[in-house]
Amino acid sequence: MSEQTRASFGGKLSAILVAAGSAIGLGSIWRFPYMAGEHGGAAFLLVYLLCVFIVGIPVMLAEFAVGRHTKKNAVGAYRSLSRPWRWLGYNGVLGALCISGYYYIVAGWSLEYLVSSATTLYNSTASFTEQFASFQDSFRQILYTILFILLTHLIIIRGVVKGIERASKLMMPALFIILIIMAVRVAFMPGAAEGYRFLLSPDFKAAFSADTIFMAVGQAFFSLSVGMGCMVTYASYFKPNNNLTGTSLSVALLTLLVAILAGLVIFPAVFSAGLEPAEGASLIFITLPEIFKDMPLASVWSLIFFVLLTLASLTSTISFHEVITAYFAEEHNLSRKNATRLTSALSVGLCLLTLLWHFDIDFAGLELKNISFFDIFDYTSANLIMPLGGLFTCIFVAWKLKPEFMRDEITNQGSLKGRFLPLLVFALRYITPLLIIYIFVRNLGLL
Ligand code: PFF
Repeated sequence: MSEQTRASFGGKLSAILVAAGSAIGLGSIWRFPYMAGEHGGAAFLLVYLLCVFIVGIPVMLAEFAVGRHTKKNAVGAYRSLSRPWRWLGYNGVLGALCISGYYYIVAGWSLEYLVSSATTLYNSTASFTEQFASFQDSFRQILYTILFILLTHLIIIRGVVKGIERASKLMMPALFIILIIMAVRVAFMPGAAEGYRFLLSPDFKAAFSADTIFMAVGQAFFSLSVGMGCMVTYASYFKPNNNLTGTSLSVALLTLLVAILAGLVIFPAVFSAGLEPAEGASLIFITLPEIFKDMPLASVWSLIFFVLLTLASLTSTISFHEVITAYFAEEHNLSRKNATRLTSALSVGLCLLTLLWHFDIDFAGLELKNISFFDIFDYTSANLIMPLGGLFTCIFVAWKLKPEFMRDEITNQGSLKGRFLPLLVFALRYITPLLIIYIFVRNLGLL
C-alpha cells in the first residue's frame, strides 16, 4: 500500500477507542481475574498496577512512535528505521501467531456461553463443571473457535476504517456500561465484602514473590497489547497530529479500569457463592454461571455478561489479526483480501493444533501430563515474546535511535509541550529495561 493511499483512523477519540479495543479483552476480563485469583488477589493487582505505569505505558509510547513515524506494518516499521532490528517486527508477528493459537478458543467459549445462556445452560441437570467439560470435549468447541475466526475475518476484510474503527467505536462504550451495571448488581450479593477484601487489601509478602511479579509483568504486557508490534501496527494508522502521550495514558487507564471492574464483578460474586478464586482458566466459565443461577433472571444476566466478553474479545482478535494481515499485505505484496484470508487460515490451523493435539512430557525428572499448545502459546507470548519485545523496543528507541526521534514524535515536531518527555526518556533508557531484565534474571533463579 503506498503512503498516500494508506488508511488512517478518524480523530483522536477513534484512535483511543481502537487502541483500547485491542488492549481491553479476555486479558482484562478473563485472564486478569484468574491470574489475580491464583497469585494473591490484591498483591497481584498492586504489582500489576505498577507494571502498567513503569513498563506498559513507556513501551506503548515507544511503539506508537515507531508505528506512526514509519506508517508501516511491524516488520516494515522496524526495518525502515534500522535493517538489523527488523527481527523485532518478526518477534511481533510470531507473538500474534502464538496468541492466535489459543485466544480464539477462549473467545469461542464466550460465544458458546452467549448462545447457551439463552438456551441450555440454566436448564440442564448437569453441573456447570460438567457442562464446561463436556463442551470442551465436543465438536462444538472447534465449531465456535472457527466461528470466532470467521467473525474476525469478516471485520478485517472490510478494511481498516470501515471494519476496525467502526466495530471498536460501537463496542467499547457498550462494554463499559454493561460492566458497571454488573458491578453494581454484584455489590448487593450477601458476602460480597470478602471478595472486595481479596482484591483490595494486599498481603505484601505475597506481592513481592518472584513468581507474582513475573506473572504480573506478563499480564501488563498482554493486557496492554504491547511488546509485539500490535500498537506499532495500529499507530501506523494514526493521524500525524495525534497526541501520543494522551492516547497511551487513556488506553492504559481504560484497560486498568476494566480489569478492576472485572475483579469487582468476579471476586465478590465468587466469595458470595462460597467458591474458590484460584479456579484457574475456567474461573469465569464455571463460577460465574454458578452465581448467575441464584439471581433472578439468571439467563438474562448471563447473556449480558457473555455478550460483553464476546465483544471485548472481538476488538482484540481483530488487532492481532491485523498485525499478521498488514505484514503479509505489505511485506509479501499480497492484496489485503488475500492477506486476510491467509491469516485466517493460519489461525484456524493453529487453533486446530491446540484443540486436537495433547501430549505428555517426561524429561529429566519433569513429568507433565496432557499438555496442550494452549498453555505453551499463552506462556510463550505473555511471558517471553512480549516482555522480550518490550525490552528491545526500549533499547531500540532509547539507545539505538537518536534522541530527536522520541522528542519529535512525542511533541509532534515541537507543536506540543511534551511535559512528560524527560521522564519518558529516562524510563525508556534505564528503568523499564532494567526492570524487565531483573525480572527475567530473578525468575530464572539466577539471583
Ligand atoms: N490485550 C488483549 C487482551 O487483553 O485481551 C490481548 C492482545 C491483543 C494481546 C492484541 C496482544 C495483541 F497484539
